[in-house]
Amino acid sequence: MPKRLRVGVLTGGGDAPGLNAVIRSVTKSLILRHDAEVIGIEDGFLGLIEKRIRPLAYGDVSGILTLGGTILGTHNKANPFSYFKRGGADVSAEVIKYTKSLGIDAVVAIGGDGTMSISAKLQSRGLNVVGVPKTIDNDIVGTSRTFGFDTAVSIVTEAIDRLHTTAQSHQRVMIIETMGRYAGWIALHAGVAGGADVILIPEYEYDLAEVVKVCRNRESFGRSFTIIVVAEGAKAVGGGLTVDRTLEDSPDPVRLGGIGRVLQLGLEQHIKSEVRTTILGHVQRGGTPTAYDRNLASVFGSYAAKLVEDGQFGRMVALDEGQITSIPLDSVANRTRTVPTDSPVLQAALAVGTSFGNPDLEFTLERVGTMA
Ligand code: F6P
Repeated sequence: MPKRLRVGVLTGGGDAPGLNAVIRSVTKSLILRHDAEVIGIEDGFLGLIEKRIRPLAYGDVSGILTLGGTILGTHNKANPFSYFKRGGADVSAEVIKYTKSLGIDAVVAIGGDGTMSISAKLQSRGLNVVGVPKTIDNDIVGTSRTFGFDTAVSIVTEAIDRLHTTAQSHQRVMIIETMGRYAGWIALHAGVAGGADVILIPEYEYDLAEVVKVCRNRESFGRSFTIIVVAEGAKAVGGGLTVDRTLEDSPDPVRLGGIGRVLQLGLEQHIKSEVRTTILGHVQRGGTPTAYDRNLASVFGSYAAKLVEDGQFGRMVALDEGQITSIPLDSVANRTRTVPTDSPVLQAALAVGTSFGNPDLEFTLERVGTMA
């Protein structure tokens, strides 16, 4: 009798809504369509280093479609090429040997760019890996969407809506700081959906004087409240990133945070209105995924199962112009997909007079002023 296909599944890096939907989809597809055995690997690559695995049966992944987090656990320091518990030792050979000793034909690695980079290296050393792109930041190259992003945008949009009404009641300037690392997708999409007056993203350095101008302009029209959405990676012209902390032993040690407060302190010196800051933080990553993310995660999961069945290893599932496809894992590693100037959402924001704090991008502020 031919050997049954045996597939490992892991979730790596930070969590994102929709991870469980992928685990469910890939596991059920592999079992139903391919009669495969599925092995759950705990806490990302740490499970392969520390030999923590468990079988995943059909019933184990039932009822998890709508759950946030990951039933397998995840880890953002687990890198077989630099194992943090052994002073950064390369334990990849042990990991590959152990995985093969389990009879695992391929590993489906669900994660962000860090997970994809590790996967690409493992693949080049002979371990079969298929990647599934995850991150609320939507910044993985080669795919126009990652699951988790839509949920994060919904959460941020709801927060903006709620802050909008209280900003209006008190005539305050409200700053909302979002996640997103070095890309402004979350701030841009939620800012536009929430009708923000100013959106500051890492792709375009902002000039404090431009933001002051927007607040003052609104004050002069009797609208003393202003909604400013700032991405954690935004930078003032000539300034640097605002770093919250540095995590020892992490492959990606820098944690951004605090730009909202920096902006607040700057604005307070120049405008009359009271300024308040809300840092949304990990609330953007928690809880139940939206319907869009559940669907995208389900599609990605079943496509990953098909790639495994077809022996298409070393590839990452991707969404390209509405089509589900796959791209080489090594084309993704160590790169970030940022917001381009021709983004339709960015252009739509500019068209309605939203400020990005950057005169090079703006053409509408003066016009809006004279039309009011
Ligand atoms: O990549 C997802 C993300 O939430 C980023 O937006 C954020 O900068 C980072 O992870 C936070 O990481 P951690 O949860 O390790 O602090």
